[in-house]
Amino acid sequence: MPVADLPDFPWDSLTAAKAKAGSHPDGIVDLSVGTPVDPTPQVLQDALVAAADAPGYPQVWGTPDLRAAVAGWFARRRNASGVDPDSVMPVIGTKELVAWLPTLLGLGAGSSVGIPELAYPTYDVGARIAGATPRAAASLLQFGPMAPKLLWINTPANPHGQVLPVDHLKKVVAWARRRGVIVASDECYAELDWREDPDGLTTPSILDDRICGGSHEGLLAVYSLSKQSNLAGYRAGFVAGDAALVQRLVQVRKHAGMIVPWPVQRVIHAAVQDDEHVAVQKQIYAARRAELKTALLQADWRIDYSDAGLYLWATQGKPCRESIDELAERGILAAPGDFYGAAGAQHVRIALTATDERISAAAKRLTS
Ligand SMILES: Cc1ncc(COP(=O)(O)O)c(C=O)c1O
Repeated sequence: MPVADLPDFPWDSLTAAKAKAGSHPDGIVDLSVGTPVDPTPQVLQDALVAAADAPGYPQVWGTPDLRAAVAGWFARRRNASGVDPDSVMPVIGTKELVAWLPTLLGLGAGSSVGIPELAYPTYDVGARIAGATPRAAASLLQFGPMAPKLLWINTPANPHGQVLPVDHLKKVVAWARRRGVIVASDECYAELDWREDPDGLTTPSILDDRICGGSHEGLLAVYSLSKQSNLAGYRAGFVAGDAALVQRLVQVRKHAGMIVPWPVQRVIHAAVQDDEHVAVQKQIYAARRAELKTALLQADWRIDYSDAGLYLWATQGKPCRESIDELAERGILAAPGDFYGAAGAQHVRIALTATDERISAAAKRLTS
């Protein structure tokens, strides 16, 4: 696949807005990217240090205790009791899996990959790397009789924070099974769900017992620890679901040397067993979200979806680039909605990933 077939990195188009925001006398508030800024929890730093002695090659598939711990997390946190530890595999952060999944599954020219209409750009990139055709769709109906080989869903979604409910996901699974479509569900913001679920559940997983009917056939859940555990710098995530598909991924990745480093595997093992650090981090984001949301509403913005995740999907009902310029005048940098698809042309994505001090500065600038 020629590199020229890949889309340009869109961030270059923000250079002027960034320079303008940076000239604010009290400094820039950069809310354009979802990169965590709070410390990696001590329990996870300790797990990393304890595994520093690692002379041998680690397992691509992950150790049995790591896989069992991930299966336990699915049962405890995601209402997915049927995850077999053998159908779990750690990944080097989930962006790599998103970018390589179509290739690892053997898709190529002549096959297509379904992706959300408004989406994290790497789903499209992954299809292109494989030589397959990305097909963006706002609903399954849009595919008509031409079902893709692989369908990406993202719940809670980046950029807009929509959460797909159980009934919707059940329909997706039934639709896909009738057509032999593999469903890959990217769920990395599931623990950061702001809705008040009376059962205290996180965002529904594609592997949730209520959704998959007790079978994981044709289904893959992809999960990143970057967001909930401040581990973006470690590159830590995992995939679980259909045992045969996961085995295929393991086999190809063994040949390709796609191995999660041993210390990071031990961190994943620790992270999925410790709910406390996730709850603490969630509270920190909840406070930042409340402050920014209040300020945006006071300043006459409208906020759509944003039920979960690390972003506010906001609009002034005008082209997003105008809103980006206005925010930059106030020293705030956000991501234009058109980065994520044409349907985002009037929205901006405002990240909660800045310090309390910077979030308060942004809130003041929005309302003054
Ligand atoms: C929807 C979505 N999927 C996957 C990723 C990749 O996360 P990581 O590679 O850090 O695991 C991100 C990161 O922003 C994301 O927003």
